Amino acid sequence: MEKAQALIARYPQSRSALLPMLHLVQSVQGYVSQEGIGFCARQLDLSEAEVSAVATFYTMYKRRPCGEHLVSVCTNTLCAALGGDAVYARLSEHLGVGHEETAGEPGQPGSITLEHAECLAACDLAPVLQVNYEFYDKQTPESAVELVDSLRRGEKPAPSRGAPLTDFKGAELQLAGFFPDDEETFTAQVDGPSQAVETLRGAALAQERGWTAPVMQDAPLPEVGAK
Ligand code: FES
Repeated sequence: MEKAQALIARYPQSRSALLPMLHLVQSVQGYVSQEGIGFCARQLDLSEAEVSAVATFYTMYKRRPCGEHLVSVCTNTLCAALGGDAVYARLSEHLGVGHEETAGEPGQPGSITLEHAECLAACDLAPVLQVNYEFYDKQTPESAVELVDSLRRGEKPAPSRGAPLTDFKGAELQLAGFFPDDEETFTAQVDGPSQAVETLRGAALAQERGWTAPVMQDAPLPEVGAK
């Protein structure tokens, strides 16, 4: 309740707090329950139908209890072509679950929810998967199985880049916008290298060769309503 009030206070209009509020609900319950929808509606002076419309539109809001960890395998075009489909198929077989299903008791240690993901904006490191939205680059079916097995043993292997791994509820608290106050814990919890050499290769090459982008020409903006 205290956190919900803190979220609402961040916005001039309470309804603007809905997205982080839904993440806050997931940080407590591991999904957006009907009770969570009612809570958001009451706090933000919205109808339950309005809250449901938002919660069912975005795939990051889960309508069924999630595992301790959420494993999202990119099966969009580039990752799929480079092995993402094989990674997903092997994980699905290994865990004995399909899309948005959980191996183990949801919320309990070692439980894993598997899902297909659309492009995760890391095509240069394909095929990729995420655990609780942290990246594990250049996966193979074997490395992915090794990764989920270590999660099931309670380990938290370091992501390829980005913040250290937490669990689904911990990641949801961060997505709601709550971080430790003291700088040292904050840094330990969220800091990490975010760039990959592959991602910067084009910029590095351009710098090396003195290439620059052409200057943008000023063009008049089209009039609003013009055809
Ligand atoms: S297609 Fe997988 S990250 Fe873009």
